[in-house]
Amino acid sequence: MKEKITVNKQYLLPFLKEDYHVYQAKVKEIHNGLIAKTLLGSDFLGWLDLPVNPKTEEINFIKDFSKKIRKEKAYLVVIGIGGSYLGAKAAISFLAKPFSSSKVIFAGYNTKGEYLEGLCKFLQNKDFYINIISKSGTTLEPALSFRVIKNLLAKKYPDTWKERIVATTDKARGALYTESVNNGYTKLVIEDNVGGRYSVLSAVGLLAASVYGINIDKLLKGALDAYKDLLNPSLDKNDAYFYAVARYMLYKDNKVTELLINYDESLNYLSEWSKQLFCESEGKDKKGLLVGSMSYTTDLHSLGQYVQDGLRNVFETIYNVENVSTDYLISEDDKNYDKLNSLAGKHFKDITGAAMQGVINAHTEGGVPNIIINIPSKNAYCLGYLFYFLEKACAISAHLLEVNPFNQPGVESYKKEMFKLLGLLK
Ligand code: PA5
Repeated sequence: MKEKITVNKQYLLPFLKEDYHVYQAKVKEIHNGLIAKTLLGSDFLGWLDLPVNPKTEEINFIKDFSKKIRKEKAYLVVIGIGGSYLGAKAAISFLAKPFSSSKVIFAGYNTKGEYLEGLCKFLQNKDFYINIISKSGTTLEPALSFRVIKNLLAKKYPDTWKERIVATTDKARGALYTESVNNGYTKLVIEDNVGGRYSVLSAVGLLAASVYGINIDKLLKGALDAYKDLLNPSLDKNDAYFYAVARYMLYKDNKVTELLINYDESLNYLSEWSKQLFCESEGKDKKGLLVGSMSYTTDLHSLGQYVQDGLRNVFETIYNVENVSTDYLISEDDKNYDKLNSLAGKHFKDITGAAMQGVINAHTEGGVPNIIINIPSKNAYCLGYLFYFLEKACAISAHLLEVNPFNQPGVESYKKEMFKLLGLLK
């Protein structure tokens, strides 16, 4: 049977002040507007069709490039920030086995010289390639990191360094585009109608994912099935739309902070990706939920106190992985100093299950609504499905708030100030 992302409403419905079906007509209107491309931000709806019309030539290049670089046992340094790196980082973290090493390294998402110094030292005696990703081609953090790492590459491979760079950028504009054309780098295109945080299912996310070893056909198949499943606008059939409405209803009820919860820290970057998706899409015009994230049970011993007893303006959305592939058995101990022999024979997943149910009981009793997003397994198919599910939910949710989901005017403000200080603004 097909694995689908679903929402468990059990710990949410008692908190809703009205029947969620009152939003059905509005959601249908938004749904139709997305299809007809008549809503605010409609120039940026290319992501909707990414799983339906994958660019075959580009995908073939990605697969061949990955094969080559994996065969050479070389590293790939992915340079980007925000939507230009979080999707791939989330995918790799989600699917990586604990303590496994990765040949995909991320850079350009900060302004830390110490990080770059360490990275350059690390790369000195390694073979590596660069994937520089920037839609605008002018973002300062990746541009500066690119300078540094490109210099190292050019020193290491004086004759072939240009062949070791893949630039993922606009098809006709920007500094990175111009440099790529002049230097003959391999180019992958971010289409005009696909914004950064909605680009994980394009070359932006796929190249690094594939180099890591993720089956991108399965990833795209999951997204394609989500595309098909989420064409039904009924709130009772479309859990992404239900999730959007639930968030909106809670927001209207002054639950203005959404906490993304996982019980598996390999989902932490999925939370980071989701935080960007939702906050950058919705936080404007003095509106929007502030989305934070926590990993339980770790954070129950710190921030959990606030969730249980603090200001009652929060709700939790749990990213729940239903089936774990490997687990550890708790064994009998002769001495039983810790008095835990009654747990012998159980697996750690049983402990996690009890922890999760216990936390749900305690937090809902404490007045915190819980939405559970069920993820059947940690595999590429479910991840592709989930990426698309959350993107669609976010578009609906932002339109319920009557904001443009696809711009980020607030991000530009800090850039302007920083550029002024650096003397880069004429
Ligand atoms: O979602 C977005 O558009 C942003 O977060 C961008 O991804 C981020 O600012 C990086 O921009 P660029 O790819 O132009 O360097």
